[in-house]
Amino acid sequence: MFNLGRKKHPLLGIDISSTSIKLVELARTGSYSAGMYRVENAAQEPLPAGCMAEKKVTDIEAVGTVLEKMMGRVRTKAKHAAVAVPGSAAITKTIAMSSALSESEMEAQIQIEADQYIPYPLEEVNLDFDVIGPSAVSTEMVDVLLAASRRENVDNRVAVLEMAGLTAEIVDIETYAMENACALQLARIDEGLEAKTIAVADVGATTTTLHVLHGGIIVYTREQNFGGNQLLDDLQRRYSLSREDALKGLNQPESSPDNSAEASSNLLTKRVLPENAQTEVIGPFKEALAQQVSRALQFFYSASSFGRTDQLILAGGAARLPEIADLVEQRLGFPVQVANPFEDMVLAKHVDRAGLERAAPAMMLAVGLALRGFN
Ligand SMILES: Nc1ncnc2c1ncn2[C@@H]1O[C@H](COP(=O)(O)OP(=O)(O)OP(=O)(O)O)[C@@H](O)[C@H]1O
Ligand SMILES: [Mg+2]
Repeated sequence: MFNLGRKKHPLLGIDISSTSIKLVELARTGSYSAGMYRVENAAQEPLPAGCMAEKKVTDIEAVGTVLEKMMGRVRTKAKHAAVAVPGSAAITKTIAMSSALSESEMEAQIQIEADQYIPYPLEEVNLDFDVIGPSAVSTEMVDVLLAASRRENVDNRVAVLEMAGLTAEIVDIETYAMENACALQLARIDEGLEAKTIAVADVGATTTTLHVLHGGIIVYTREQNFGGNQLLDDLQRRYSLSREDALKGLNQPESSPDNSAEASSNLLTKRVLPENAQTEVIGPFKEALAQQVSRALQFFYSASSFGRTDQLILAGGAARLPEIADLVEQRLGFPVQVANPFEDMVLAKHVDRAGLERAAPAMMLAVGLALRGFN
């Protein structure tokens, strides 16, 4: 099953990434002034080492067990979910077809012609298509988006959901989930969005993905091997820490003498990272991050004719580094902000605001997937 289709009822958006599972459930509020969506659930749970090979699920059992545990903790009636395969694991192609064809006729024709577009044996892929609108080729044609992914990418994710008692209603591509999540942020730009070029850098644990949107549509995506795991590796090595402690260290706020509440809580919780970790490890990683983003943008500039970017949105767990947006902004020379897909949303009573705000930059994909229940 590979399904780009659109469904009416709310879904759980589930991002199975290289180091954690993120889950989001949204509901419509019906009121524009209060924000269009209410966050019913938002959760994140780390995955044990070795059950993912980057974005590939290699141990269905282990990943499924974590999701099952999460489902036991969130209060939801939802039984359906949307998941996504990475952009690099999917092939998409837009083709023009006669608008006179019925859906089943289209399907039959695509099955016959698919080997022209898909470089794998057809029995090894999941294939789906979606009519996206009138074609520029001719008034009698429509543009049809074909999407294909190797069966294992899709099947392993579906199997993980099944272990937790969920049905995979939508199997999306991360690129589209990101576009969906960005639509919320872009809706805040009141003027001239059609002409704006906006980049999103998702700096995860293993992968940094640069997406570029023009007029709200993703026109470019490129993944590179860079991410927060390198920071955790360095902290572990340098200060002889466990993985857990390195991450705990990043999550401890920096001590600041003018914040007495923070200072006193720091007396109670022993600091994991030494004082000079900032200058020795974290600072250089932030510089490296800025450089990676800058390099990714150079690739985009040389590969496309969209011109300069107007703005950069920084997403992923590494976007939680203190003052990272300021630093990247200085290095790039145009506005940078940290992603917060929940900004205009109201929260259900049981959702913890502070926790949600901390997690927000890494929740873009899960939110984009949860939104598939509405569009
Ligand atoms: N408080 C924090 N400050 C700085 N960095 C953090 C913090 N918390 C987590 N990180 C970094 O974020 C990374 C995880 O980010 P994220 O959840 O986006 O990754 P992922 O989605 O699992 O990875 P990928 O997208 O590569 O599959 C960790 O490797 C860690 O380095
Ligand atoms: Mg990620």
